[in-house]
Amino acid sequence: MSNKIIIVNGPNLNLLGEREQSQYGSITFNKLKDKCEVKSKELGLTVNFVQSNIEGELVNLIQDARKNFDGMIINAAAFTHTSVAIRDALNIFNKPIIELHISNIYKREKFRHKSLISDVADGGIFGLGENGYTLAIIAIQNLIKNENR
Ligand code: DQA
Repeated sequence: MSNKIIIVNGPNLNLLGEREQSQYGSITFNKLKDKCEVKSKELGLTVNFVQSNIEGELVNLIQDARKNFDGMIINAAAFTHTSVAIRDALNIFNKPIIELHISNIYKREKFRHKSLISDVADGGIFGLGENGYTLAIIAIQNLIKNENR
């Protein structure tokens, strides 16, 4: 293992392209997945791009990921602001984690200003739109490379 990453997407991100385009742009979930696969391949990474609307499923995915992946990018969507369970699962991962948000959560409603996962992540990207995914892939590759030094 040294080049496998997982990109975990939380609730409602399956509806990208359809939901609140002013916040999330017009790219669809499948197009975003394709884009992440192309970028990962370019950087020599194998990516698993997953999504669930269900908190417990996300916890299971994160738990299982510790055995199979070298780094994680997570857009926990609304669970970012509410889920102690996802935070605790991330805390067990013990490998590089990047928190990602398409929108600038600090420019939005107050309840989005609090993230329960920022302090268990190595770093974060927010407010840069779909491009944030590309930037996060570049960043996670760097973090993994440094770990393996
Ligand atoms: C989001 C921001 C969250 O507040 C929101 O609930 C989402 C998406 C983002 O990518 O900007 O569903 O994580």
